[in-house]
Amino acid sequence: RDGERHCVGVFDSGLGGLSVLRVLSSTLAGVRWLYAADSGHAPYGERSATHVLDRSDRITRFLRDQGARVVVLACNTATAVAIDALRARHRDLSFVGMEPGLKPALQHSARARVGVMATEATLRSPRFEALLSRWKGEAEVVCVPCPGLAQAIESGDPEAPAVRALVARYTAPLRAQAVDTVVLGCTHYPWVAPLIQEALGPAVHLIDTAQAVAAQTARVLSDPNALADESGCLPVQAYTSGDTRTLQQFAQRHLPALDWHVARLPV
Ligand code: SIN
Repeated sequence: RDGERHCVGVFDSGLGGLSVLRVLSSTLAGVRWLYAADSGHAPYGERSATHVLDRSDRITRFLRDQGARVVVLACNTATAVAIDALRARHRDLSFVGMEPGLKPALQHSARARVGVMATEATLRSPRFEALLSRWKGEAEVVCVPCPGLAQAIESGDPEAPAVRALVARYTAPLRAQAVDTVVLGCTHYPWVAPLIQEALGPAVHLIDTAQAVAAQTARVLSDPNALADESGCLPVQAYTSGDTRTLQQFAQRHLPALDWHVARLPV
């Protein structure tokens, strides 16, 4: 029966992509999910573009060998740095990537003052610069690189004091600039959305693009039946280059509707 289902590989530098898989798996039915967490090589946001591309390429090949025909880069940094090269190298696969949600943020912002939280690698990528130059005439855009935040979330406890301290530090310039809408430009950050919201106050709107990525994945599968609710416990085969127990515990705690099988990522 598995052979009849779509097989979609989702990958990230670690636990961040699970915030995307959470939305994907609750919106798309009839999919066999594979998840790869490259926690042994995180944080991507602080690595060279060559390293991120090399890791993304290895993981893409691995997911394809496991049966994936669609690969979701559930990582803003990997998308910013590697998606064009991956598309050119793997013409037999379809890719869906992340993009910081500047357009929805500008549409939502009443004061035309928007903040973007992302890794340094994402913010300095030509892909993000092109996105920014397309929209920045329409609003004040305050970009805040957040070194260390994704890595702190990788510890598996989004409430840890170190995470709180970093959230306080990186939201301070956004408060000072009085933005009313903030883009979560890294898939790790939705795990600390409540802390970010608390720091910015209830009037500030947070933008997470996971829903848009789920809609795009459905289009790529070009299967209208894929967009339907499915009850029951879907099996997910997950792999990590980091600690299998951390991934298993985090995934079970935050995505309890899925049936997790975690193994070591062999690439
Ligand atoms: C990281 O590993 O630095 C986070 C990557 C991202 O989602 O941008």
